[in-house]
Amino acid sequence: GTGITGTTRAADPAGAGETVNLMDVELMRDPFGGYARLRERAPLVRGTFFGRGTPIWVVTRYDDVKSVLGDTRFVNDPTGVPGLDVGNLREREAEARGIPEEYARYIFDGILDTDGEDHLRLRRLVSRTFTARRVLALRPRVEEITESLLDRLPGLARDDVVDLIEHFAYPLPITVICELVGIPQEDRRQWREWGKALVALEAGGMAAALREMVDHIHELIARRRAAPTGDLLTGLIRTHDEDGDRLGDTEMVTLVLTLVLAGHETTAHLIGNGVAALLAHPGQLALLREEPALMPRAVHELMRWCGPVQGTRLRYAKEDVEIGGMPVRKGEAVMAVLVGANHDPRVFAEPGRLDITREPDGRRETHVGFGSGLHYCLGAALARQEAEVAFGGLLRRYPGLALAVAPEDLDRELMPGSWRLARLPVRL
Ligand code: HEM
Repeated sequence: GTGITGTTRAADPAGAGETVNLMDVELMRDPFGGYARLRERAPLVRGTFFGRGTPIWVVTRYDDVKSVLGDTRFVNDPTGVPGLDVGNLREREAEARGIPEEYARYIFDGILDTDGEDHLRLRRLVSRTFTARRVLALRPRVEEITESLLDRLPGLARDDVVDLIEHFAYPLPITVICELVGIPQEDRRQWREWGKALVALEAGGMAAALREMVDHIHELIARRRAAPTGDLLTGLIRTHDEDGDRLGDTEMVTLVLTLVLAGHETTAHLIGNGVAALLAHPGQLALLREEPALMPRAVHELMRWCGPVQGTRLRYAKEDVEIGGMPVRKGEAVMAVLVGANHDPRVFAEPGRLDITREPDGRRETHVGFGSGLHYCLGAALARQEAEVAFGGLLRRYPGLALAVAPEDLDRELMPGSWRLARLPVRL
């Protein structure tokens, strides 16, 4: 026994043992223990995911995760695999979620679904305006938004207890990303609702939310064309490369949708998980309070220790590839398990120990919580900055901050691929 329930024995020519169900509740409850067992078992383990007919390969060792994500023989778009019949996978998914055909492209043709030249072109055009300088320039606003949220916390407490997920971790990133993109203040509450509807995957609700969001962004683009500002949307409209190539309207809408959706829940749960981790480790918390300059290193370590994204999108082998000495056949799908890599004792000594001084300096990042390779997170610098400001502000403002329940009693929201708290009740 692997200790993971819900596994079935499958005929497996590669000898990788039992097939693991990645939707298994026990694995969602304890991904660290569950993936550690898979990591010790073999470089590649057979897995099933989201009712897919064919099993996938699950990769959990650090070096193997890095090599999958850094290898252009693996692609994100299965239609790019020569000779692979993906059937009408996309149509079936759109239909299952009640998404009308003309809106499907906005969620199925995002930057994460492109490879090769198409992907490089999108990265190039976005990077012209979504720059490190733009992120840095936003810092004072991130600080202001943080302070105003912190101001309101005492008034939101019930019996002295306030939920930091609801009142801090969620509102901060959504406000920041809307401000960056240029989504008007009055529309932000609506965006949070749309985001929830999309994530909930609730068929009817999702289709409606998608339609409304897409129409809304088209309208915003028209408004910015007529009256440009300094926001990212205006930047995207104006951006072109040396050859005069620019983003089309559909591409801009898809991109804005991706930025808002990729940028708010992930960052919210880094803040939630990170605050919970610090409060559960008083020694580390005291060290950080004493030496605020440790903050960038602390954020790297919190991303490693309790990052919110557990695995990447599936990658498809364009040809036969060997991973960790085991064969992946052309057309087969691979899941790179980031939490497996980030807790691999081959790379991180005592991986279960939270140590905010683990990285030698604030610029380095050994963990793969933001992915790796060509699809490395476009928003990593922004997310890190938000987390730094959020942790810093919270600790300064509320020196007596404490969990209102024991760390082991924190309510987790069980969702495949995501490590997140449903609530984070604290006393200020
Ligand atoms: C890609 C994680 C915040 C935008 C990724 C990937 C990961 C990730 C793991 C790679 C997925 C893959 O290779 O399959 C995170 C985490 C975040 C975060 C843990 C917060 C703590 C953000 C923010 C933004 C953003 C704030 C936008 C402002 C993107 C985009 C991609 C991406 C656009 C796709 C890049 C590409 O395909 O080239 N993110 N992300 N993310 N992320 Fe993030």
